[in-house]
Amino acid sequence: MIEHTYIRGVGSYLPARVLTNEQLSETVDTSDEWIRARTGIMQRHIAAEGQNTSDLGYRAACEALDDAGMEAGDIDLIVVATSTPDLTFPSTATIIQERLGIRNGAAFDVQAVCTGFIYALTVADAMIRTGKNSNVLVIGAETFSRILDWNDRTTCVLFGDGAGAMVLSSTPSKAENAGKGIMNTFIRSDGRHKDLLYVDGGPSSTQTVGKLRMAGNQVFRHAVKELSDSMVQCAAGVDIAIPDIDWFVPHQANQRILEAVAKRLDLRRGQVVSTVAYHANTSAASIPLALDVAIRDGRIKRGHKIMLEAFGGGFTWGAALLDY
Ligand code: ACO
Repeated sequence: MIEHTYIRGVGSYLPARVLTNEQLSETVDTSDEWIRARTGIMQRHIAAEGQNTSDLGYRAACEALDDAGMEAGDIDLIVVATSTPDLTFPSTATIIQERLGIRNGAAFDVQAVCTGFIYALTVADAMIRTGKNSNVLVIGAETFSRILDWNDRTTCVLFGDGAGAMVLSSTPSKAENAGKGIMNTFIRSDGRHKDLLYVDGGPSSTQTVGKLRMAGNQVFRHAVKELSDSMVQCAAGVDIAIPDIDWFVPHQANQRILEAVAKRLDLRRGQVVSTVAYHANTSAASIPLALDVAIRDGRIKRGHKIMLEAFGGGFTWGAALLDY
């Protein structure tokens, strides 16, 4: 059993088009004031016509490979977290595998909605530590704009499109990074809450793609509790105390959720990375997108301990503790 899964590189990609709250309020009965006050969101990125989830994921993957100093051919597994695949099948992971020119290894999607990246990371970590794979590309990529009901102001203001990626490896990039990497992951789900957050279509049930439906205020209450609990359990599993963690990179659903969780865990001001104002909720892409922003602007450095956490449809939730 290999002891550590190393984080070799991180990358992200946002589509060029920005849709501001002001612009949205021209077509939907909402306002910049309401959206900012209730969610913290100011704008979101929207994929161009013909630009699919695999296109966003491919761009993020190229950035992560570049950051890792690795070639696509080094990768022997791709795990894509998405709820908005290009097609019902084949998987978005195999589409990206083909674009990257990878002819070996395997590629598959995981679907855990907004918790998708934590689930994908957990799978990749297990594959590396059991010796099945050596270099794994984990991608969170979404085009939620395609499953929104643009007439429903309670949901359409909340989401955006984007992608983030991470290259994980059984070997560190430098000797000084030995012993670092993924410290622990924690995933859970509870299918009883399906009706509070779901998409009302699918190949088997309606033969349509469907639109996102959410009872937002009920989701909010569950999210705050489960997010706090999962971080505590994830840290306790490796005997780390919450105050010893440098950064918290949460799934970016709502600034008020981020603040409620921070208050519950008594986190220090400025310790929580927030990109929700600029990206909105990009579901499985939101954690690697936020992580990439904080690494590139110099806040997160090698050697820092980072807690990732997410909550999403299912319900699903989880956390991952990294020694970056
Ligand atoms: N603009 C103006 N008014 C609005 C809007 C809008 N965009 N949306 C709702 N309202 C109105 C409602 O109609 C309601 O009006 P009423 O009182 O006259 O009936 C009022 O605002 C309050 O609505 P609430 O739903 O109670 O507002 P709340 O404070 O709960 O905020 C929100 C809603 C932002 C959706 C919040 O509940 C939330 O963020 N929930 C969690 C979302 C989340 O974390 N999802 C999980 C991840 S997503 C995934 O997995 C896909």
